[in-house]
Amino acid sequence: MALTDCVDDADLAAQHSPLMSPLVWDLAHIGNQEELWLVREAGGRPGLRPDLDHLYDAFQHPRADRPALPLLGPDQARGYVSRVRAETVDVLAAVDTAPASSPAPELERAERLLADGFVFGMLAQHEQQHDETMLATHQLRRGPAVLEAPEPPAAPADAAVLPSEVLVPGGPFTMGTSDEAWALDNERPHHTVDVAPFWLDTVPVTNGDYLAFIAAGGYTDPRWWTEAGWRHVQEAGLEAPLFWSYDTAAGVWTRRVFGRTEPVRTDEPVVHVCWYEADAYARWAGRRLPTEAEWEKAARHDPASGRSRRYPWGDADPGPEHANLGQKHLRPAPAGSYPAGAAPCGARQLIGDVWEWTSSDFAAYPGFEAFPYKEYSDVFFGPDYKVLRGGSFGADQVAVRGTFRNWDYPIRRQIFAGFRTARDASPSDDGRG
Ligand SMILES: [Fe+2]
Repeated sequence: MALTDCVDDADLAAQHSPLMSPLVWDLAHIGNQEELWLVREAGGRPGLRPDLDHLYDAFQHPRADRPALPLLGPDQARGYVSRVRAETVDVLAAVDTAPASSPAPELERAERLLADGFVFGMLAQHEQQHDETMLATHQLRRGPAVLEAPEPPAAPADAAVLPSEVLVPGGPFTMGTSDEAWALDNERPHHTVDVAPFWLDTVPVTNGDYLAFIAAGGYTDPRWWTEAGWRHVQEAGLEAPLFWSYDTAAGVWTRRVFGRTEPVRTDEPVVHVCWYEADAYARWAGRRLPTEAEWEKAARHDPASGRSRRYPWGDADPGPEHANLGQKHLRPAPAGSYPAGAAPCGARQLIGDVWEWTSSDFAAYPGFEAFPYKEYSDVFFGPDYKVLRGGSFGADQVAVRGTFRNWDYPIRRQIFAGFRTARDASPSDDGRG
């Protein structure tokens, strides 16, 4: 509601970019999905407005077409979502959300949706994912600033003296999960992956690092780009991250942040770069993007116990000392922040701040089973999408964990995405030979 009450009705119904829906579409879509899954499917109730389903079905109408639909107006949408929420609370009081008594595949569909409150977790994540999308719409929106948030905590004293990279030892680890109650289908099932030893950046690549790539002519040198990346950088005329511009009078790069223009802060993780830019930067730096398995091993593997943690810091849910999540701050924290959120390998800020591009295509894990429907993940598997990990300052903790997988096209820049780089370790680095 905070993301929609701060602008007027015309602004809510406007499309701020062909990449995004009008904010009022996201608002009613959150309610419509909640009605569909919680009130009708899990609650077995008739629902409030089944006639709205087609308007708010993301697969029926691409984002660019949504402003032309006969959508609910802002007041109607607000009334609708609050009536749906009241029914949801009734359903929650009436159904049994106890853990399942038998393995998932043996359960009836409705039973499986309710076990451990999965369907409630699924919808909480869905709402928060749209909140992050709506925050991205705010970043694209023109006009005076309307969002306010406190600065993230200052970097700790040791941020300046951290090693530039950390060693992640080689060997097998457990990737994905079979027992995280609210994990989505694409995170399942857990399986063993052998990962060779590698070095990973301790912190995400910063604006300062990225400025060096720009200054070195990174955008004009085809050596650093894949063939598709080089074609894209020329066609789209890319020369810096999205929302950056060069102030020729002052001789500095500036960045637009939720309606305010400021000098680029060199100690902040870079954000709003596409996969092609991340990949080109890594090659220019003599490095590469980590694979998805490498990222997850760095974030979850505990060499002392041999098991995979839920989060880099352990199994406890994220607290404000661990990670920059949940739109509490409207920007990434300086590189090296959140020492209490460090992984066993020593890497920081794997969770929160910026989504991190990996080198991997979005693919099914061995033994994957689509649930509750194919359009959740299954239809997106393949070489068109690259995996992002870790969540951003705009993502809520309910929708971020060590196993959580995000995916997008390699050209996308409006998302809150940055990256860190990696390199192979030699056997002598590993201490195990
Ligand atoms: Fe959705």
